Amino acid sequence: MNDRIVLGIETSCDETAAAVYSNQHGILSSKLFSQVALHSQFGGVIPEVASRSHIEKITHITQEALHAAGKTLDDIDVIAVTNKPGLPGSLLIGVCFAKTVAWAKQKKIIGINHLEGHIFSACIEYTIPFPFLCLTASGGHTSLYIVRHLGDYQPLGQTADDAAGEAFDKIAKLLQLPYPGGPVIEKLAQQMHFQDFYHYPRGAPKTLQFSFSGLKTAVLYDLVKLGYYDLATRTFSDAMNEQVKQEVASSLLVAIKDIFAQKITHALSLHPVKAIAFVGGVACNKFIKKSLKDIAQKHQLLFFSPSAQYCTDNAAMIAFVGNYKAAQGKFDSYDLDIY
Ligand code: KG4
Ligand code: ZN
Repeated sequence: MNDRIVLGIETSCDETAAAVYSNQHGILSSKLFSQVALHSQFGGVIPEVASRSHIEKITHITQEALHAAGKTLDDIDVIAVTNKPGLPGSLLIGVCFAKTVAWAKQKKIIGINHLEGHIFSACIEYTIPFPFLCLTASGGHTSLYIVRHLGDYQPLGQTADDAAGEAFDKIAKLLQLPYPGGPVIEKLAQQMHFQDFYHYPRGAPKTLQFSFSGLKTAVLYDLVKLGYYDLATRTFSDAMNEQVKQEVASSLLVAIKDIFAQKITHALSLHPVKAIAFVGGVACNKFIKKSLKDIAQKHQLLFFSPSAQYCTDNAAMIAFVGNYKAAQGKFDSYDLDIY
């Protein structure tokens, strides 16, 4: 068979990304512009700022990806673009860009579900045996899936409110720590040797649904109770110091690690699988990763997690999904819309 070259485009949130995938050689390039610095001053993503940055960067990032892959638009067979879910204004930039290029160059186009991209992101670097259990955890989503084949997956549970990454981000903001919260909370927790000081609630163990919004409330009310925070004036007392932040960070990380461990253990008791995959931005967290790897080992299962560049949002995972959808003939028309 002739090689198939897929251009992946991802603009669902705050990363403008493009990647080139070859059916025969795998990922040829993966480039992105992260908007983290633009949003950090606000403590979270501002949709209008995100869209404007995407429109400024998308052409350049795509050119960079093509150049790094040693390809031109003429070499591309298929354009795969994230069209759901995400910030509407941001998705529209990627989809309009992809449609324009596809129409001008008469290329095939496929709309990709961002979550499907994350689910299969671990398959870019590893051959994972099916069926496997996949925990996706990032700033916008936290879900558990059973994955039976490429493109064949079923959700077992998802979050009823905040995503796990969102809990890290919101609590970091509460503690006046920089955005994104996950990496900085991991660093502070490490300084406390991952001890659990405050015993935040873990939720019900025998359900596959997640809920993280209670954690923020628990942290807030604990700080109030201990006299570190005044709710009326929304200010910290002088007693609130670096050590308290470290203790909260450490306790929070241990709580989220325990919640994931509970869900995975419960899912394993219901569904026989051959492996566990941990993906999404939160999968950059080494402490949580180690805990899930230990669970896999205990159950004599293989464990996979992508390298950091494929955990956080990227276009390589979009191109990867685009490639197997193209193999299955699942193309879209130039009417492709966002959802
Ligand atoms: O997948 P991603 O780049 O974007 C979304 O689709 O949301 O994930 C970003 C999220 C943020 O909430 C960030 O705090 C979290 O991933 N994150 C981490 C770590 N690195 C990033 N959470 C915990 N520990 C980390 N080391
Ligand atoms: Zn994502």
